[in-house]
Amino acid sequence: MDASVVLVHSWAGGRGCTQLTANLGWLLAQRGLRVGMVDLAFGSAALHLPYSLECGAGVVGLATVLLGDRELAEAVVDLTSRLPGRGHGDLLTLLPGYLVRDKEVEFALAQELDLGLVTDVIDRMIGQYALDVVVLDTQSGLNAMAMVGLLMADVHVELSAVGCRSEAECDSVFSFLRVEFEGAPEFVPVVSHLDSPGGVVLPPGDRSLSLPHSPALAERGPGGLVASSHPRDPLTRAYLQLADVVTDLVT
Ligand SMILES: Nc1ncnc2c1ncn2[C@@H]1O[C@H](COP(=O)(O)OP(=O)(O)OP(=O)(O)O)[C@@H](O)[C@H]1O
Ligand SMILES: [Mg+2]
Repeated sequence: MDASVVLVHSWAGGRGCTQLTANLGWLLAQRGLRVGMVDLAFGSAALHLPYSLECGAGVVGLATVLLGDRELAEAVVDLTSRLPGRGHGDLLTLLPGYLVRDKEVEFALAQELDLGLVTDVIDRMIGQYALDVVVLDTQSGLNAMAMVGLLMADVHVELSAVGCRSEAECDSVFSFLRVEFEGAPEFVPVVSHLDSPGGVVLPPGDRSLSLPHSPALAERGPGGLVASSHPRDPLTRAYLQLADVVTDLVT
């Protein structure tokens, strides 16, 4: 099976993309898929936080690999031991996007980067680890890394705060949110309720999912995986639903 690429994106910041990516990767790996997660959020990299990985001096991440300073294998973190009840062949890996200490390097990477290098790193990761699925976390909005994700993606998970009440309304909202081009990925809209704990938006048919506000996550901050520490949390149920949808699309 060729690896499938799942892009997690939002047009606005702080919608829950990073938490969703971390939890989705963990849930997909538990279903027996060989999973790679890649943090493409240059400048606001945070996918290492839910796995409580330190971002200290000398850490190696995507930027170091792109600069050609280190091998990919030195940057990829094997998180398979974090899976409960592991089966033979299970794999959960993360290529972190740790913030580059040198602001100039970060700026140059963001502005001048040959995007082909990024797709090359992701392709190499797929090959070296025999991945079934890669989940990409991106910085919000339209930026170079998000474009890489859109062009590589088989599945596009889009988080927004916009809900809708009817199929017709959904069609216009979704067509506004998705990026259409030839060979565009499968679109999975997710309505994020981070800002409206009490708010209810009607589920717009079976194409989209609702991501509830989780007091547990809000209280505890970004460290730790909700799906593992709070299996009964409504947010975990939403992540499980999404994992079902994505599994159907990638297998
Ligand atoms: N469903 C949720 N309920 C409550 N808090 C949440 C939820 N999802 C995420 N959070 C919290 O909201 C903050 C933003 O979440 P997250 O970092 O996942 O969003 P993001 O879309 O990746 O943001 P950014 O634009 O900074 O990349 C974090 O502190 C996170 O712990
Ligand atoms: Mg993020």
